[in-house]
Amino acid sequence: MTTSQEFDDWSATYDDDVQDESGFPFMGYANALNQVVQHSGAQTSMSVLDLGVGSGNLAARFVMQGCNVFGVDFSPEMIAQASAKLPFLEIVQADVTQPLPEPLNRYFDRIVSGYMFHEFPLETKVAVLKRLADEHLAPDGHIIIADIAFETQADLDAARLRWADRWDEEDFWVIERDLPALQKVALAANWVRISDCAGVMVISPLIRSDGTIPLMG
Ligand SMILES: C[S@@+](CC[C@H](N)C(=O)[O-])C[C@H]1O[C@@H](n2cnc3c(N)ncnc32)[C@H](O)[C@@H]1O
Repeated sequence: MTTSQEFDDWSATYDDDVQDESGFPFMGYANALNQVVQHSGAQTSMSVLDLGVGSGNLAARFVMQGCNVFGVDFSPEMIAQASAKLPFLEIVQADVTQPLPEPLNRYFDRIVSGYMFHEFPLETKVAVLKRLADEHLAPDGHIIIADIAFETQADLDAARLRWADRWDEEDFWVIERDLPALQKVALAANWVRISDCAGVMVISPLIRSDGTIPLMG
């Protein structure tokens, strides 16, 4: 896992780095963020929490939709970048692997994230997503995540070879392994492939916080 200090150090050049979509890690970045908005079904006045808000690129898209956007990030310098772009955004400095502090201890219509969950091993991904779904997702809410993702372990292994000169090993999503792990804790998940190294995951509770089970199909 990367430290908040490392993200502080990256903050000044982050927005330049995401412009390079020629290969790993940001191939498909802008489209991935756009697809998070698309798959969220976001509407005006919906409450949206952006996990690992970073320099604010995903949050800005939800602001454009008229949503009531909140952010959380553990890097003060990343938060400063986002605040410069979106001064009215409520951003809390916190570690998302821990229970959310006030004023984020509430329900959200949508919880979203861009390029953060690959920081966490699978057990942490599952635990964080389960807690958020149980404690912070409004009825009919969804979690939508853009991140570095591969359909199979073989696809990940091929990408590691293809981009050996720029590869940085982290806990990238492997869809064939990770979506069943989410299902085991009653989180239904689907994904859309965005590029050779990006995907968007849509995650919904199988049992909703109001106790009902949504009809499938
Ligand atoms: C690669 S940046 C992505 C920023 C933005 N979401 C985007 O899509 O461009 C990852 C962000 O997640 C934040 N982050 C990583 N681990 C975190 C944690 N455990 N708690 C809170 N924020 C975290 C970092 O500080 C950084 O701002």
